[in-house]
Amino acid sequence: MINDFIFHNPDKVYFGKNQLEHLPEELLKFGKKVLLVYGGGSIKKNGLYNTITELLKANDLTVFELAGVEPNPRHTTANKGAQICKNENIDVILAVGGGSTIDCAKGVAAAAVTESGDVWPLVSNQVWVTKALPIVAILTNAATGSEMDAWAVISNMDTNEKIGLGGSALIPKVAFENPELSFSLPTYQTACGAFDIFNHVLDNYYLAGDATFDMILEFQEAVMRAVVKWAPIAMKEPDHYEARANLMWASSMALNTVLDAGTVHGCACHAMEHELSAYYDITHGHGLAIVTPRWLAYILNETTAPAIYRLGVRVFDIPQNLSAMNGAKKAIEAVANFCFNTLGLTANLSDLGIDEKHFKAMANHACAGSVISGPKELAPADVEAIYKMCL
Ligand code: NZQ
Ligand code: ZN
Repeated sequence: MINDFIFHNPDKVYFGKNQLEHLPEELLKFGKKVLLVYGGGSIKKNGLYNTITELLKANDLTVFELAGVEPNPRHTTANKGAQICKNENIDVILAVGGGSTIDCAKGVAAAAVTESGDVWPLVSNQVWVTKALPIVAILTNAATGSEMDAWAVISNMDTNEKIGLGGSALIPKVAFENPELSFSLPTYQTACGAFDIFNHVLDNYYLAGDATFDMILEFQEAVMRAVVKWAPIAMKEPDHYEARANLMWASSMALNTVLDAGTVHGCACHAMEHELSAYYDITHGHGLAIVTPRWLAYILNETTAPAIYRLGVRVFDIPQNLSAMNGAKKAIEAVANFCFNTLGLTANLSDLGIDEKHFKAMANHACAGSVISGPKELAPADVEAIYKMCL
């Protein structure tokens, strides 16, 4: 069955090495006052900050700054940016960084046009944002897909909440994707980003089984295969352009809704991981790597085995002559091997100093008063059991 769908992604992407010269003309379409949003300083270390600020000033743009966006960006930081926008009548927001910076910029953009200038009511009331300041993004980390999607994930550390804020107005108007800008990524972030991309597809792939085009399933498998092939190369050779380029475009493809056509989103692993980040501030892709193989093992049954086996065959080249159940078990081993050996991510929550103290509350919150949909619905008790498997 193929569900009805609307495809609309108005983000204009400049991909490649020599595209930054177009930045001033794109910003000037919205006005001259720019809020530059960036993280903890990686763009100063690799020289990008100077390149951008010089380019903007040479083109008569006035630059204000919101620096220091945290990984797992906080609502308080977004609110600070919104205040600058209000005080200075900012025309356009320029986010330079990874998903956290772009997400924070989205929070700023949404809050800046509200009377209170506070992003948290929008997040906690799950408002679909249709009005926001325009966002232009320069991506430095292949991971979240925020550069081309309608979502921002904002954290409130006072209440241990990390929640998605969505809206058509949050899709960046323009994104610059230069794979060279990700050469300076540490190996750990490369690994975490790669697994985030992989899981964005996987979290949707299983539900897609009975509600999509064959073409989309194969496209999803191609994106996951690209991650499996190129992530270890980028980790070993950080300056490998082809590897970085494949990961960067895979990041965008995974969530720009091309792969959603006619499918239903499940996002089970994401729902469980966001609780881990909310309580323990861990790196998103690492949390996903810990949860994913355990989730697959938990949902494995006669019904899900063929789809899990197909993943193993199509993405990890496991033999095609096994029973569905044995094949699915091999596929889960292949996913775990990819996470913990190839990507080198530690496998257990206890290694990150996490125990089961908050699992019940996290499980309840992940299920949001209901169940997490998917090939096997997960109630809070199921989620708690999966967290325990991760210890
Ligand atoms: O802060 P700086 O100094 O820039 O350093 C960052 C940060 O320490 C560093 N980094 C980024 N690009 C670099 C670099 N260091 C050297 N060279 C570069 N080129 O990497 C660290 C992590 O950056 P961050 O932006 O936090 O990583 P990522 O892109 O993985 O973003 C993670 C956030 O996005 C959310 C996650 O939950 C998390 O909060 N997500 C957003 C989604 C969306 N908008 O649709 C979906 C995802 O599922 C995800 O939930
Ligand atoms: Zn993710």
